Amino acid sequence: MHILALLRNRFATALQGWVDDYEQYLSLITSARDPQHGDYQANIAMPLKNVLGKPPREIAQQIVDRLEVSDICAEPEVAGPGFINLKLKDEFLTQQLTKVITDERLGVQAAEPARTYVIDYSSPNVAKPMHVGHIRSTVIGDALTRILRFVGHKVISDNHLGDWGTQFGMIIYGYKNFVDPAAFSASPVEELSRIYRIIQSVIGYQSAIAKQAAAEAAIQTAEDAVVSAESMPADDKKRKKQIKAAGRGLRNAQENLQGIEEKIAAVRSDPKLLEIAEQHADLQTRCQLETVKLHEGDEQNLGLWKQFLDISIEEINAVYQRLGIEFDFTLGESFYHPMLAAVVKKLRQVGLAVENDGAMCVFLEEFDAPMIIQKRDGAFLYSTTDLATIDYRLQEFSPDALLYVVDHRQSEHFEKLFAVGRKMGLEDIELKHVSFGTVLGKDGKPFKTRSGAVIGLEHLLDEAVERAYQVVLKSQTSRTDAPGMDESEMRQVADVVGHGAIKYADLSHNRTSDYEFDLNKMVQTEGNTSAYIQYMVARIKSIIRKGEVDTSFRNAAELSISIGHPAERALILHLLQFEDTLEHCLEDYMPNILTGYLYSVAKAFASFFDQCPVLKADSQEQRSSRLAICFGTARVLEQGLNLLGIDAVERM
Ligand code: ARG
Repeated sequence: MHILALLRNRFATALQGWVDDYEQYLSLITSARDPQHGDYQANIAMPLKNVLGKPPREIAQQIVDRLEVSDICAEPEVAGPGFINLKLKDEFLTQQLTKVITDERLGVQAAEPARTYVIDYSSPNVAKPMHVGHIRSTVIGDALTRILRFVGHKVISDNHLGDWGTQFGMIIYGYKNFVDPAAFSASPVEELSRIYRIIQSVIGYQSAIAKQAAAEAAIQTAEDAVVSAESMPADDKKRKKQIKAAGRGLRNAQENLQGIEEKIAAVRSDPKLLEIAEQHADLQTRCQLETVKLHEGDEQNLGLWKQFLDISIEEINAVYQRLGIEFDFTLGESFYHPMLAAVVKKLRQVGLAVENDGAMCVFLEEFDAPMIIQKRDGAFLYSTTDLATIDYRLQEFSPDALLYVVDHRQSEHFEKLFAVGRKMGLEDIELKHVSFGTVLGKDGKPFKTRSGAVIGLEHLLDEAVERAYQVVLKSQTSRTDAPGMDESEMRQVADVVGHGAIKYADLSHNRTSDYEFDLNKMVQTEGNTSAYIQYMVARIKSIIRKGEVDTSFRNAAELSISIGHPAERALILHLLQFEDTLEHCLEDYMPNILTGYLYSVAKAFASFFDQCPVLKADSQEQRSSRLAICFGTARVLEQGLNLLGIDAVERM
C-alpha cells in the first residue's frame, strides 16, 4: 500500500490550478513523527506564505477545504503555525491490511515505468585474502539488487572482479621464487596467501628503509617546531594554536616513524624474510615487471595467472555460497583488457584525451588533476578499464542506471569517470557511486586481527555462527517458553542467525558512515539486530501454530480485521508503510531505511503482543482478527528480511 503516494495525489489535486509548480511541495507530506499529531502531516502551508501572500494558518485551512480525503482520513486538522495533521480512518486501515495480507506482493505495486539497472558490486581484488571490508559492497549490493527487483525493475548484477591488477605480478614473482610445492598442492589458497604476505612485508620493508632517514629528520624538524612555538611570547595570541599544531605535527611524525620502524622490525626479526629482502632488491619493481609481462601476453605468466585466478575464484565462491549471493555476470577487469586500446583511441578521436608528458590524459574542468588513461610506458589504468566497462554495459544491456557499490575512498575516481561519461553523451543515464564507509575495530581503526593481518572472511563467518550458537543455546536453557530444539536444529538456527547478523549489522548502519564491527552485539536477540527480528518472526509463527488457523488467506472475504487497541492500530499502520519504505530506501539507495523499518515493525509487534491478547482474545472474532494481524506481521518481516538477503526460522 502506497499511502504517501495516495495522500500526495490528493494534495496535488487540491493544489492544482491554484498554486504554480505545486509538485515541489508534495514531499512535505510525511508520516508524522509524533503519533499525537496524527498519522501523517503536511507542512505545506508555511512555505506557501510568500507565494500566496497570506498567513499560513489561513492557507492551511484553504488547502483542507479543497482537499478530498474523506474516504481515507478523519477530518484534517490545522494546528500550530499551519500544520495539517491527518489521521487515517480505522476502516481504511483494516481494509488496506486485508489487501496486503491477501496479496502475493504484500500490496506493493510494480514500478511504473520499470527501469533497467546494472549494479556493480562485491568486485574484490582477487588473489589476496578476502577480508571484512569486502562484506560491505557484497551485502549492500545484494540487498539493493533484491529490493530493486522486488519493486519490479530489471537488474543486471555484475561482479567486476579485480583479476588483472598488480597483485598478480606479486604472486607470480613469489611463486616463481619461493613457493613451497608441497604446501601449494596441499592448500593452494593458503600457500598463495602466504606468498602474498611475504611479498607485502618485504616490499613494505624495502620502502620503509628508503623512507627511514627522512622520517627521522622529520621528527627533528617537528621537535624544533614545538620548541619554537613554546618559546613564543606568552601574550602572543597565536601561541596556543601554534603549540597545538606543532604538537600534532610531532605526533604525526612519530606515528609515521613508528610505522616505518615496525615494518623494518617485522622483517629483521624473521631471518627468512630478511634473506629474501636481501636477495631480491627492489622487489616492487621485480613484481611490476611480472605484471607487465602478464599484460603483454607472456605465456608462462598467463598460465600462472589462470591457475591462480581459478583458485581464488573457488575461494570467493565459497564465501558467496555461504552468504547466498549470486551474480548474473562476473566480468572482471581482465575481460576488458582487449578493449582498452580502442577506448583510448576513441577518446583521442573525439578530442577528449590528449597527450601530456607522454601519458594520455582527459582534462576535466572540475578537477585539478586529469584522468590518466594510458601511462607513458603504454600501460592502461583502472580508469581505462572502467571506461571500457561503461561502453560494454551500454551496448549489452541498454541500462537506465549504472550503480557502483564501492567504498568511499574511490569517490574521486567515480566523479571523474562520470564526468568523462557525461562528456561522452551519457546525460540520460543515472550514474551513481553508492559509496560506503569503513568497517572499524574496537580501536576505531580499520578492522584487523590482533596479529595485524586483515581478518579472513570465512573465519569471521564461522565466528559469527559460533557466537550465534552460544546465544541460541543460552536462550534455550534459560527461557521457559523455549521451543526445545535438538542439537541439529540449534546448529541450523545458529547458521541462519550468524550469517544474518553479519549482513544486518552492515546494512543497518547508514552506508556512508564507518561502523564498528562488534560480533557480540550483532548476534544479540535484543536491539536493532537481525536476531531480534528473526526471534519475533519465530514467536509469531509459534502463535499462529497454536492458534490453529488456516493462513492460506487468499481472498478478503475470509478476513475480518478490526481494531480494538491503540497498539493494534499502531502495528497495522506500520505494516501498511512497507511500500513507502521501499520507495524511500531506493531514493538514495539506503538499505538502513529498510532495517530501521523492520526494527520498528518488530517493536510495534512486541508492544501489540504485550497489550493485546491473541489466543485468549475476548471473542472469537477478535481472536481471528488478531491472528490475521500476526500473520500479516510475519509476512512483512519475512519479506523484509528476504530483501536484505536474510533468512527467517520457524522456531527460535
Ligand atoms: N576491485 C576494486 C577494489 O577492490 C573495486 C571495483 C569496483 N568497480 C568498478 N567498476 N570500479 O577496489
